[in-house]
Amino acid sequence: MLSAFARPTCAALRRSFSTSAQNNAKVAVLGASGGIGQPLSLLLKNSPLVSRLTLYDIAHTPGVAADLSHIETRATVKGYLGPEQLPDCLKGSDVVVIPAGVPRKPGMTRDDLFNTNATIVATLTAACAQHCPEAMICIIANPVNSTIPITAEVFKKHGVYNPNKIFGVTTLDIVRANTFVAELKGLDPARVSVPVIGGHAGKTIIPLISQCTPKVDFPQDQLATLVGRIQEAGTEVVKAKAGAGSATLSMAYAGARFVFSLVDAMNGKEGVVECSFVQSKETECPYFSTPLLLGKNGLEKNLGIGKISPFEEKMIAEAISELKASIKKGEDFVKNMK
Ligand SMILES: NC(=O)c1ccc[n+]([C@@H]2O[C@H](COP(=O)([O-])OP(=O)(O)OC[C@H]3O[C@@H](n4cnc5c(N)ncnc54)[C@H](O)[C@@H]3O)[C@@H](O)[C@H]2O)c1
Repeated sequence: MLSAFARPTCAALRRSFSTSAQNNAKVAVLGASGGIGQPLSLLLKNSPLVSRLTLYDIAHTPGVAADLSHIETRATVKGYLGPEQLPDCLKGSDVVVIPAGVPRKPGMTRDDLFNTNATIVATLTAACAQHCPEAMICIIANPVNSTIPITAEVFKKHGVYNPNKIFGVTTLDIVRANTFVAELKGLDPARVSVPVIGGHAGKTIIPLISQCTPKVDFPQDQLATLVGRIQEAGTEVVKAKAGAGSATLSMAYAGARFVFSLVDAMNGKEGVVECSFVQSKETECPYFSTPLLLGKNGLEKNLGIGKISPFEEKMIAEAISELKASIKKGEDFVKNMK
């Protein structure tokens, strides 16, 4: 995974030029001028997997694109500004990543963002449904528990819905869980893997410490504190930034990790697994995050929840009603749109 971030050597770059069918992902970032959008675009520009980067926002994209385009990697970069340029940004895209929308300020929940971000996500995904209906859609904009049902309903309205291609990016929860477990156990975080299931807000974030590799054990009180920290890690950053926004750099890392996994799988790499919030039959919630096997056409196989502890079972039971309400809120928003 980490190798995807490493500066490609000349030999690696030559290899990627010579295998023309591979490593040619065309990626669009919507909200590319923002706190997440800029570092995410930098990481994508630095990857040999990406051959075209199209950057859309309602502000500053000419500057962001000019700046990134001077980096000595082969991905072409072009900026698109304002709604009339959005179709050209999207046409031909294989993957669209959407970090557009307002972030939290101290004291806000992710659901407090609903009113603003629901409209932004519905508008942007409607354009995706029209101009790149086959692309993989990766939604970062919060509240993810509602913005994924919004995206699904918008694609259904346009008659182009494919549940295997719409992903809520929850990777930051996994990244945080790996880091915090590694800190507590004195491990290398790059070698720790904790599945995080459920949704992406407070109690709906359910780390499965019992499935961690390598296997780790914690006394119950330390386990409860660890789980609480993972669930509230976003709020930890919001408080530390004191009004200047929410996680951006770690989110850019997590977003890039998810896109690279997806592109690797689209290129035929086998055994690529990431957790993501998707349409699901694993619980009574119509959308739920679990480990997913990714493939050429997106979600290939839902690997399900697996064997979990009674503590984790209780967390799932406690998350279901909040998740269902957030999902319904997203679905109703699109159904009530004119
Ligand atoms: N999924 C996660 O784990 C996760 C983690 C952190 C933040 N987030 C969410 O990501 C979103 C972005 O956060 P940020 O810190 O980058 O915010 P930001 O305010 O720094 O950037 C948002 C960008 O979106 C742009 N934008 C606004 N309306 C738009 C529109 N209609 N079309 C295109 N672009 C538009 C803005 O111009 C801005 O450049 C927020 O909703 C935040 O809650 C998600």
